[in-house]
Amino acid sequence: MRDKKLIVGNWKMNLNTHEASLYLHKLSDIIDVRRDVEVVLAPTLLTLQSLSLQVDRRQFKLAVQNLYWRDHGAFTGEVSATQLRGVVDYAIIGHSERRHIFHETDKDTRNKIQAAIRNNIRPILCIGETAGERAMGETNDIIHDQLIGGLANATSEDLKDVTIAYEPVWAIGTGDNALPDDVKKAVVAIRSQIKHLYGVNASKEVRVLYGGSVTADSAADYLSIDGVDGLLVGGASLDAYGFGEIVKKAHKGSAVAKK
Ligand code: 13P
Repeated sequence: MRDKKLIVGNWKMNLNTHEASLYLHKLSDIIDVRRDVEVVLAPTLLTLQSLSLQVDRRQFKLAVQNLYWRDHGAFTGEVSATQLRGVVDYAIIGHSERRHIFHETDKDTRNKIQAAIRNNIRPILCIGETAGERAMGETNDIIHDQLIGGLANATSEDLKDVTIAYEPVWAIGTGDNALPDDVKKAVVAIRSQIKHLYGVNASKEVRVLYGGSVTADSAADYLSIDGVDGLLVGGASLDAYGFGEIVKKAHKGSAVAKK
């Protein structure tokens, strides 16, 4: 898994169906199919279905930004992993906006992780501390708690399909991106917690991403951190050209683009 960089564009509540389709056309012109990078787009739920028909899965994969953990039933406004099966390859779970705006708990997060896994959807578990927690020196405690909370029901076998995204809340959408050194420390803490929970091999194999105000200018700095396997990009993923630049930074070789 870790032989490839993973670059995920989280569009959040942006781009309508028409804009999303245009974006995909542009991006597929800009980037090439390469084996060393996996590119994943996380559009809104509304545009997922139409993009899933348009997308060439060798070039891009799709992710859902959230899902509900029950498979079906009377849950107005929700969409289940069962319904998303076959439409998406990945699911972003426990994003800080879900946690802090929609009050999702670690229990919700772990139920969603399990729902994704039993429906063959790979979860991207987002964790990260707030500015206040950081100021109190609690970053590692938050990493510890959110990993335990999110992964409590996940077996070693399940973990093979899980990606962890370290997204410090204070760095999301603020332009106040984390210093590579801080990201490095957080990634060490994540891998050491995974080692504690699942053993040394799992700690080496689990994929870990960084997210928070990443731009085409800063992408390479994060990608070069030991233990960082890719990026979860918000605002800078909304422009196909800008996002294409970030994807190019993830390629190892020099011949990266079609044009
Ligand atoms: P920004 O890149 O806009 O800071 O968002 C990061 C993020 O939340 C990705 O999930």
